[in-house]
Amino acid sequence: MSAPATSRVALYPGSFDPFTNGHLDLLVRAAKIFERVIVSVACNPEKRYLFSVAERLDHIARSIKEATLNNVETDSFNGLLVDYAQRCGVKVIIRGLRVISDFEYELEMAMMNRKLNPSLEYVFMFTGETNLYISSTRVKEIARFGGCVEGLVPPYVLERLKERFRKER
Ligand code: PNS
Repeated sequence: MSAPATSRVALYPGSFDPFTNGHLDLLVRAAKIFERVIVSVACNPEKRYLFSVAERLDHIARSIKEATLNNVETDSFNGLLVDYAQRCGVKVIIRGLRVISDFEYELEMAMMNRKLNPSLEYVFMFTGETNLYISSTRVKEIARFGGCVEGLVPPYVLERLKERFRKER
């Protein structure tokens, strides 16, 4: 019999390129439900990221510290999420949901992952209403063209975005 998919530890995987206030909001709420949350940065060699894994980990670690989330830790992974979760001994994956298109994307991923490892369970959390329209893609696009993304990302990430695009201009 496989182990039950209940756990006090949850894994929150994602690209986090960059880490937004939507991600932070979800993490704050997840940290109240689970004893421990591991937020893990994905490293897909086929994807072009704005920030390196080390930079994204730094952004998340600083944001967690500013939010005084003592039961949240950071990590990174490459390869399949299901394999990584198994290596961590984690049975619960958390992901955020904003709009219908997220649902289709998440359902497809969760179903595929369930096929690969049926013992993993998914917990989907709705984003806070104020963060409904925030996406890393939009944040990058706006920041790249010099638009204001204040309030959409944690203060430390805001400075890193300004720095990055100042250099590019
Ligand atoms: O923040 P994102 O980009 O929506 O996160 C997607 C992520 C990293 C969770 C997903 O792409 C993933 O799990 N990647 C690892 C590779 C993998 O397991 N792929 C099969 C997914 S069905």
